[in-house]
Amino acid sequence: MLKNIFFGLLIFSGSLLFAAEPLYNVPDAPAEYAEMTNAFTSQKDLEIGKKYYQKECADCHGESGEGDADDKSVVAFTNSAWMNTRSDGQLFYIAAEGAGEDSDMEAYGPWSEMGYSEKRVWQMISYIRTLIK
Ligand code: HEC
Repeated sequence: MLKNIFFGLLIFSGSLLFAAEPLYNVPDAPAEYAEMTNAFTSQKDLEIGKKYYQKECADCHGESGEGDADDKSVVAFTNSAWMNTRSDGQLFYIAAEGAGEDSDMEAYGPWSEMGYSEKRVWQMISYIRTLIK
């Protein structure tokens, strides 16, 4: 009896731990993207990036980049353990090209339906970097 309760609790806490893990499904950037660096990191770029982030991205990623408590697939930009493994080129790739057909993360680059310039996408990436905790 006690043993059953013990194992029940073990499994329960294990599933809680699992539920707390983010479930990001982000494709890796191809080499030509991974090597890119961000040339738009001035104070002015950050202000513009913030404006467009709040307009286009905050609904899913959260006003402060905290992610979505109800949807663990949304990358939380406050998640330093994750974000510190991401190169600028990787972040730009996903923002510009989207995360694939199965993802809610759409493409925002110049060739996409959203049609933002590369500069604008980089400015949003600059702002996202300021949200890391
Ligand atoms: C409809 C919801 C939604 C919106 C709006 C949205 N995203 Fe995302 N984003 C996601 C999801 C979901 C993922 C993670 C991919 C997955 O797990 O499917 C993601 C992932 C990302 C990543 C992570 C890349 C990586 O390699 O870790 C970046 C960067 C990103 N989004 C930028 C943006 C920017 C910039 C905007 C606004 C221009 C934006 N997102 C708008 C849902 C959204």
